[in-house]
Amino acid sequence: MQKLLLIPGPTNLSESVRNVMSLPQISHTGEEFYNSFLETLELARYVFGNTKGHQFVFTGTGTTGMETSVYSLLGHGDKALVLTTGYFGKRFVLINKAHKVAVKELEYSPGKHADPEDLRRELAKERYKAVFITHVETSTGVRNPVRELVEECSRADVFSVVDSVCGIGGEQLDFDTLNADVVFTASQKALAAPPGAVLIAVSNRAMEYIESRKDDIESYYMNLARWKPIMSDPKIYLATPATHVILALRQALLELKQEGIQERWKRHERLANAARSSFEAAGLKIVAEKGFRANTVTGIWVSDGSSQSIQNALEEKYGIVVARGIGNDRDRMIRVGHMGILDEKTLADALSKIVSTVTQFTRAGLTQ
Ligand SMILES: Cc1ncc(COP(=O)(O)O)c(C=O)c1O
Repeated sequence: MQKLLLIPGPTNLSESVRNVMSLPQISHTGEEFYNSFLETLELARYVFGNTKGHQFVFTGTGTTGMETSVYSLLGHGDKALVLTTGYFGKRFVLINKAHKVAVKELEYSPGKHADPEDLRRELAKERYKAVFITHVETSTGVRNPVRELVEECSRADVFSVVDSVCGIGGEQLDFDTLNADVVFTASQKALAAPPGAVLIAVSNRAMEYIESRKDDIESYYMNLARWKPIMSDPKIYLATPATHVILALRQALLELKQEGIQERWKRHERLANAARSSFEAAGLKIVAEKGFRANTVTGIWVSDGSSQSIQNALEEKYGIVVARGIGNDRDRMIRVGHMGILDEKTLADALSKIVSTVTQFTRAGLTQ
């Protein structure tokens, strides 16, 4: 049975994207890859809405994007602020700590969004070099008010870094007007490409700063100053790219462009609305607070201890793969990804099966 992946990434691939992965190997410094790479970079600019800043695509994962931002912008002892709305916010804290950055976090309970007012107050009290924001917190399904948060950073003249790994391609984001300094995503979520590529947009002011500290950046690979020349001439060797991942990403981005980014955002909104209304109609409780619910993933509370059984039942009976919670909420949360190339009919069919299975395993009267 072909499984339907409804985890929040990796997502299902189109047949043409899958076919690219089985093409014969090519030279990573040859003409064919060179042209495909430059086209991929242009397509990435389209998806990010980045005509003014720098654009990067290289082999790595979302975590590479996180570490690259930290390493490229910050040095030992610099001060950073992380807005933690879940597991991936925490990861920013851990990465900053690993790099000996003096990191503080504003932490929110699961389902709550990062409040721009809190950020404003904190930035008035303390001078930070960078603020780390998660666009969509995949561990809960919260969409943070990224525009308002970035505005606070701009007002305080602090670098803003946006993790949009579970956003770009499914959630509205326009790099040119957002005014953030670094925004990144990974290939395997709303872009509907296989895992293995990280895509990063960087403002001109951040890039100038990064290049001014070129020799102080304490990473060879996760170093935007080192990657910059490769982006204009991918024949220069820095590290062997995952050629077929990049080629498949190009194909996925071509298909995304064919749909159109605005249309893609609208489809994701419709998918999310369908998921939310199915869950709520069945009396299930959505983790993310109203007004801050992502269009790419929805988390719901289930009876404590039932998430593994729900996951197994859905996969065994219907071939539908959903995710459990992460960390502390592993046993009492189910997360359904609805992003990438997913169509409304496929989701609607799956939702009725998910709802009936969850209801079966969820004790009546559950409140979280
Ligand atoms: C919001 C967010 N940030 C970062 C990551 C890390 O990405 P990766 O697993 O590709 O390293 C993920 C992965 O799910 C994510 O959802």
